Amino acid sequence: MAALLDALPGLAAALPHAPLGRWPSPLEPTRLYGRTVWLKREDLSADGYAGNKIRPLEIVFGAALAAGKRRIWATGAYGSNHALATVVQAPRAGLAPAALLWPQPASATARANLIATVSTGAEVELLRSIAAFPFAAAWKARRDARDWVMPPGAATPLGALGHASAALELAAQARALGEDPGAIVLPCGSTCTTVGLLVGTALARALGAGFLRRLPRIHAVRVTPWPVTSALRMARMAVATARLLRSLGGPRLGLTVRSALARLTVDGSYLGAGYGRPTPEGVQAIAELAPAGLLLDSTYSGKAAAYLEEHLGTLRGPVVFWATKSALPLPATDRARVAALPGRVRAWLEAP
Ligand SMILES: Cc1ncc(COP(=O)(O)O)c(C=O)c1O
Repeated sequence: MAALLDALPGLAAALPHAPLGRWPSPLEPTRLYGRTVWLKREDLSADGYAGNKIRPLEIVFGAALAAGKRRIWATGAYGSNHALATVVQAPRAGLAPAALLWPQPASATARANLIATVSTGAEVELLRSIAAFPFAAAWKARRDARDWVMPPGAATPLGALGHASAALELAAQARALGEDPGAIVLPCGSTCTTVGLLVGTALARALGAGFLRRLPRIHAVRVTPWPVTSALRMARMAVATARLLRSLGGPRLGLTVRSALARLTVDGSYLGAGYGRPTPEGVQAIAELAPAGLLLDSTYSGKAAAYLEEHLGTLRGPVVFWATKSALPLPATDRARVAALPGRVRAWLEAP
């Protein structure tokens, strides 16, 4: 949030936030696949557990505290990074941590994340099926007026403003490097990050803070299927986010569905068999980028890296790769808490 509030100090009163991150996250020009790529190190964005989810959490936690809430529920799949970030960071903001999760295909990262989530001691409810999620979420929200239930990925215009702040950081970092990036490549799941970058890059330009020669094209690599990651849906949410910013006292951006679509590429060909299902290209990219110090995962960032590898030769200008998966060690395992999980969840953790 720091970059957004530095650029628009008048927003502070209307946009309470809980400081969680270490900003700016570094921008590191690195040699990848035979070319210099700017790594935006969202993987180092906070202490405890980092990643791209820290930015929306700062704003949503701030809104929850301002509304008098006491407990914050993350929602997502078993092993969700968003849920793990929430349960690690919520206590730092003075909120009780909780997570409501549904099953997804097991992978090494999802298993490790679920063990870490449970080990924090947060209230964790593990549903048998995603079909139960809408009812369970509605019940949580009604059960206690002091509970706040986030949608999966905190993907709302409010959450997207956190990523708009990241685009302002990038603008300042690009200015220091003397070039406007031509492209940003990132994984796209709940769409919150992609939408925030569409808005934030336009905001930086409107404020004269960066991207004056050209706005970067956003390359969103689908890790969840259409219609969640429909380009039209994202463009509409970008317009709603720009409207929210304006209503809070920010500038008019003139962002339209058409102008958002014009600089958004959404590619579904790296999704493979579906959300959480590793692909051979993704797994290969994880191995290839490890020597560069990048810790990628098979659900999100590995698939985006596979896109980067294949398209880097055709992308214009400096290319930014959004490193979204926390690179920090996971919270220590609490064996007793893991052993106390229901048998069906332990079976998920132990499946071959
Ligand atoms: C590691 C990682 N990368 C990328 C994403 C996708 O970001 P978004 O949900 O904002 O589209 C997520 C979402 O959970 C994630 O955990």
